[in-house]
Amino acid sequence: PVVYLLNGPNLNLLGKRQPEIYGHETLADVERDCRALATELGLELRFLQSNREYEIIDWVHEARESAKAIVINPAAFTHTSVAILDALNTFEGLVIEVHISNVHKREEFRHRSFVSLRADGVIAGLGTEGYQFGLRRLATLLASASG
Ligand code: DQA
Repeated sequence: PVVYLLNGPNLNLLGKRQPEIYGHETLADVERDCRALATELGLELRFLQSNREYEIIDWVHEARESAKAIVINPAAFTHTSVAILDALNTFEGLVIEVHISNVHKREEFRHRSFVSLRADGVIAGLGTEGYQFGLRRLATLLASASG
């Protein structure tokens, strides 16, 4: 099964950006680890990042055609984007929302997530390993759906 893993704005700077909050791993490190895990789990991974809202929306539309699940860290768009929520609401597969930091421990404006209104599961505050937990959970759910 195809799984889209979508990353929102500023995550291209992972590892350099506020490492005390987001850690020292780069997005390339995260991609490498997720690819290795996806292979092990039998998932076909499309790993993508954009600073542009429309691009994330277009990838969700693309996922409608081919993907069984989306793992998404919408970054700041989490807290602002009705458009990404609307796009995810057109997607019929599983959606897992990931945040590297514990958004609930941070500023009030990070406590609200539009994407959580659609997500089947939410992972926050488990660092970049959160993406891997998300992929593992999807593999379990997809295996039980097809079996
Ligand atoms: C984030 C949390 C968001 O509030 C923030 O805007 C980000 C990253 C996280 O992964 O912890 O850019 O989604």
